[in-house]
Amino acid sequence: MFAVYAESFSSDDPLSGLVLGERPDPEAPDGWATIEVKAAALNHHDLWSLRGVGLKEEALPMILGCDAAGYDEDGNEVLVHAVISHPDWTGDETLDPRRSLLSERHQGTFADRVVVPRGNVIPKPSSLSFEEAACLPTAWLTAYRMLFSQGGLKAGDTVLVQGAGGGVATALITLGRAGGLRVLATSRDETKRKRALEIGAHDVFEAGERLPLKVDAVMETVGRATWSHSVRALRPGGAIVVSGTTSGPRLDDAELTRIFFLQLRVIGSTMGTRTELAGLVNLLDASGARPLVDRALPMEKATEGFAAMADGELFGKIVFTR
Ligand SMILES: NC(=O)c1ccc[n+]([C@@H]2O[C@H](COP(=O)([O-])OP(=O)(O)OC[C@H]3O[C@@H](n4cnc5c(N)ncnc54)[C@H](OP(=O)(O)O)[C@@H]3O)[C@@H](O)[C@H]2O)c1
Repeated sequence: MFAVYAESFSSDDPLSGLVLGERPDPEAPDGWATIEVKAAALNHHDLWSLRGVGLKEEALPMILGCDAAGYDEDGNEVLVHAVISHPDWTGDETLDPRRSLLSERHQGTFADRVVVPRGNVIPKPSSLSFEEAACLPTAWLTAYRMLFSQGGLKAGDTVLVQGAGGGVATALITLGRAGGLRVLATSRDETKRKRALEIGAHDVFEAGERLPLKVDAVMETVGRATWSHSVRALRPGGAIVVSGTTSGPRLDDAELTRIFFLQLRVIGSTMGTRTELAGLVNLLDASGARPLVDRALPMEKATEGFAAMADGELFGKIVFTR
């Protein structure tokens, strides 16, 4: 079958290890389902994989992609939950120490077909297109858990989203607005700041700009480039919810003095549970909010999508279609 996969790693030139070509058809073990992929969203995770972060050399070649929407064996429209927990695990799948994401241990979704445990297959609401549904399992689920589970935010609270243009960031803005939050956002780019206003941010700022008010929580996916600004943006007792470090994890200043003196909380967040994925679908259904697709490309043009993400030239999600 056709697939988009990693053949080697390079931290400086991640696209050099990306291959588009034929891979063997997957075989579904007992209890697993074969999904015919119609749409699969690109995540920064796929670039990290090509850089050799989170993916082991012995797992190569590895089909990339965490997210998919498509058809199950009975022709039902479905989407897949990308967190694969151990069959013995019960409870929050993201806390299973043996869990992995699709494309880490098991082949990913950038292919004609992908196999996943039956428990990871969930119905696709007919109100969402395949392209929109493909955005949910990683970026949108991560944003949902950051805001409402780990962040514990409720209607009326004020949140700052760092780096407005990204897949997770646009989800944070849209979901924050749908959930009744006051949403502030930063971006390095003026056009992206304007677009953030269009998708629901109440106010936008340049990266690092002093805010006119302190916020209840900051949603961090950028890391080193925005960390100090995030800490300084918080009211006493506020929280940073961190799920990514796109600009790097090594901080120039962890701002520990401010963190203890203002009794700030730093909360990690990764992906989300199947129950949260169902909650996210319900929120989209009830609010009419929809994932923002920057562009949909045929999977044969995947390299174009990877290059745009590596250059930061996107606003929302890049989705590959079959
Ligand atoms: N823990 C999890 O479960 C989980 C799930 C999904 C994603 N993540 C992580 O979250 C991060 C974002 O993922 P994504 O898929 O949304 O990536 P993406 O679509 O490529 O977005 C990249 C983001 O980084 C910002 N950015 C990059 N370099 C920056 C810099 N030097 N200064 C300021 N902002 C910078 C961009 O903001 P502007 O261009 O607007 O400034 C944009 O918001 C990645 O590190 C990813 O690995 C983690």
